[in-house]
This record gives sequence, structure tokens and C-alpha cells, in this order.
Amino acid sequence: TEYDLVIRAGTVATAVDTFRADVGVSGGRIVALGENLAPGAREIDATGKLVLPGGIETHCHIEQESATGAMTADDYYSGSVSAAFGGNTSFVPFAAQHRGQSVRDVLETYDRRAAPKSVIDYSYHLIVSDPTETVLKEELPEAFERGITSFKVFLTYDKMVVDDRQFLDILATAKDHGALTMVHAENNGMIKWMVERLLAGGNDAPRYHATSHPAAAEVEAIGRGIQFASYIDAPLLFVHVSTPAGAGLIADAQMAGQRIYGETCPQYLFLTRQDLDRPGAEGAKFCCSPPLRDEATQVALWRYLRNGTLGLWSSDHAPYRFDESGKLSAGPNPAFNQVANGMPGIEMRLPLLFSEGVRKGRITLNDFVALSASNAARLFGMSDRKGSIAIGLDADIAIWDPTLEWRVSQAEMHDNMDYTPFDAMEMTGRPVTIISRGEVIVDGGELKAERGRGNFVKRAPFGIASLSHEMPAELDPARNFRAKIL
Ligand code: URP
Ligand code: ZN
Ligand code: ZN
Ligand code: ZN
Repeated sequence: TEYDLVIRAGTVATAVDTFRADVGVSGGRIVALGENLAPGAREIDATGKLVLPGGIETHCHIEQESATGAMTADDYYSGSVSAAFGGNTSFVPFAAQHRGQSVRDVLETYDRRAAPKSVIDYSYHLIVSDPTETVLKEELPEAFERGITSFKVFLTYDKMVVDDRQFLDILATAKDHGALTMVHAENNGMIKWMVERLLAGGNDAPRYHATSHPAAAEVEAIGRGIQFASYIDAPLLFVHVSTPAGAGLIADAQMAGQRIYGETCPQYLFLTRQDLDRPGAEGAKFCCSPPLRDEATQVALWRYLRNGTLGLWSSDHAPYRFDESGKLSAGPNPAFNQVANGMPGIEMRLPLLFSEGVRKGRITLNDFVALSASNAARLFGMSDRKGSIAIGLDADIAIWDPTLEWRVSQAEMHDNMDYTPFDAMEMTGRPVTIISRGEVIVDGGELKAERGRGNFVKRAPFGIASLSHEMPAELDPARNFRAKIL
């Protein structure tokens, strides 16, 4: 046989093209795209299916201590398994430096957590909360050298927040080494001020979580971040953008030529702050930061996704169970400010975008591929290996049944959670076969992957200036095909 694997007669889609082709895989890479390829040792019939790049999830909290100290419910095994069932073949969770910790120790800890367990390829973004001289001058440069080319900073949460000077130090250090800074943009003072007033008035139900994190807190911090990045001409990515006004500032900065990027997440498109009003403490399941907004926000955020202002679509999977280990650690009826922030969704990110986006005509299939994998690969230094269906890239492939109808329930999920915020939603389309470096890791609802098979991905420095829906030529499979022949 000519190939290790041939995926036959599917509809292949990249961020720019949709075409019928067989995909030939050997040595873990895509080696041929064409009609009637020679036989493979293994054959997969993809007639009537979509053959898409495996998803790259770049915002998730796995086996991580949160800003309040709580440990996430998913480790690198359950987190990566759930990601795989959701159509992903790579993920980039956070390695979090808490104050007083050395970055070296943090990265060693995460290597110990990830390497023996992950079933998909992985890297980390480093959360920096304590930018000492040693961290800035020695440890961050070391992290770049080993291929960790993105950092996250927080402008809120007392235990993680950086001040203006520290923010500039981190932005400048990242810029010097070709790394991308990511920022959780909410104004800490505004939130704390309102939390105090609400609690003083006896208003401590989950719904006040949203009241205490107003849109203005996000818009202020996004505006500030844009000014800081512009001041020293550093690239900056705003994660989990939840306000139309904030997205508007990002669009303006992009139009002005700044290297400013934006991400949004399913919770802001499919849930609203009304979900915080569920009976008893159930609203705690929906406490995340930034908080859920309203229906007008959903409409506007779809627009910003479609036009490319928000080029990243991530789950912000931050799994805390609805019990004493997680959401209810402060008691059965916790005050809103004592609830661990975040919700699960790593397995729902792509099905939701496909069903509600592609199937309902809000975005194209090519937009879907851009948002699920290609943009992330490019922005986070992985596009030499991942993020498209093209000759020479890793054979990281998700085969989707675009017509399969199903209903969301926690019983369908593979994470270590006890609820899904998207319960009972009716979905069309689902990933059915997941292939990582040529190996089938999920098939027919079953896990085929061995624990720890995932590899650490050494990422390239940040280099590409724009994040439009136009892909660079190297991600165009037709061009690669020709290059191979010539
Ligand atoms: O509420 C959230 N999103 N928790 C996770 C931590 C973060 O801010 O991203
Ligand atoms: Zn260096
Ligand atoms: Zn955040
Ligand atoms: Zn997050």
C-alpha cells in the first residue's frame, strides 16, 4: 500500500477552500490530496462527511489552580479526552504562576501534569502574576526558548492582578522576544467597589455577580490595554470579549493598524444573565468572568465574529463542579463573590459553532475552520505544523457528520463535570472520527487513544501581523500541492 491511511471521498474544508478530495497520510503527516489516491493500509470512507482540520483550543483551564485557589475538576487526561470528543487535536491550557512562585517551577509542575496524561498535543500559555526582575530577565526568556510564546495577564482578581508598570514590563518583554500577550480585561477597582455596595445591601445572590462586573469595567480595561499596547507597539490579544463596545474598540484599533486581536466564547453567544436567576444556588453554575450579558450582546458578537474582529473562538473551559469541591465550596448558598468563576465547555465549543453558526447560516464553513483551528495556529506559532489540511502538515483531522442530530446532556460529555451549561440544546452536526498525527483517537463514540500519547508542541515566536480571514499562501493546500509537483 502507498499510504498509512487514506480518508476517501470526503468534503475537505480549509479556512479558504472547500473541495472534494481523498487525503493520504503517512508518517503522521498529510502527504497527498487528490482524486482516486492509491490504497492505504487503513481506509476511512468519508462520503457525505466533512474532513476538517482538528480543532485547536487555545483558552482552557486544565489541572490549574484558579485565581481563588480552587483546583479545576479536569486534569490533563479528562480535559484532553473531552477536547478530543469535541473535535480537537491540540490544546493550549494555562500554566499559572501564582505570586511568589518561580516560572521554572511552574513549568516543571505543568510538564508533570500534562506529559503522562494528555491524549492530544499540547502547549501552555504562561499566566504571569509576579513579574519580578528574575522572571522578566531570565525566566520569561527561558520560557520563550522552550517554545512557550504567549502569556496571559489579569487586570482583575486581587491574587493575580498586575499594575500598570508590571503590565508594561510584561508587554515589553513579550515584544522583545516575539511573544504574544493575552489579557483578561476588566477594571478591578470598579468590580470591588460594586461588590462591597451589593454585599452591604444584603444582595448576595448569584444574579449580582453580573451586576458587579458591569460592561463598563470591560470596556474601560480594553481601552486601557489598547493604549498600553499602542504606546510601545506591542501585540495584544483580548480574551473572552463579552461586550459590543469592547469589540468596537478592538475593531477601531485594528483599523488603525495596531496588532490587536480579540477572542470570544460560547457562553456569551448562547447564554444570558437570566441564567443566573435559576432557582436556589443553581445560578452559581453560570458565574463566570466576564459575566453573561444579554441578547443584544449575542447579536453584536456574532457580527464581530463574522467580520473577523474577533478572530478566536475558545471555550474558556474552567470546570468547577456544582458541589463542595467547586461552586459550593463556601456552602450550599454561597454569596456570589465566593463562587469559583468559570464554566465547562471544551467539548461543546465546536459543535455549538457548527450547529448555530454554519448550519444556521451565520458564518460559512470556511469561517468555521478559521475560528476552530487556522487562526489559532497562526496567532500562537503552530501553523508550520497544524491548523489546516495541507501537504506537509500533521495529519490532525476531524471528520464531521454535518447532519447528525443530537441533544446536549451531561451524559454525552467526557469531562469530569456534573453539569453542562448548554443542557438540552438541540444540535445538528457532530465530529465522529478524530485523527491526531495520523492516529485515530476517537471513533464511533469510543476513545482509541492511549493516555500520555499527546506531544508538547514547541511553538514559534509571534510573527504574523494580521488576523484576517485571508489565509497566507502556505495554508492553501492547492498551492502546496502544486509546489510539490513542481
Ligand atoms: O470565569 C472565568 N472565565 N474563569 C476562568 C479564569 C479566567 O478569567 O479566564
Ligand atoms: Zn530570547
Ligand atoms: Zn480570564
Ligand atoms: Zn479563562
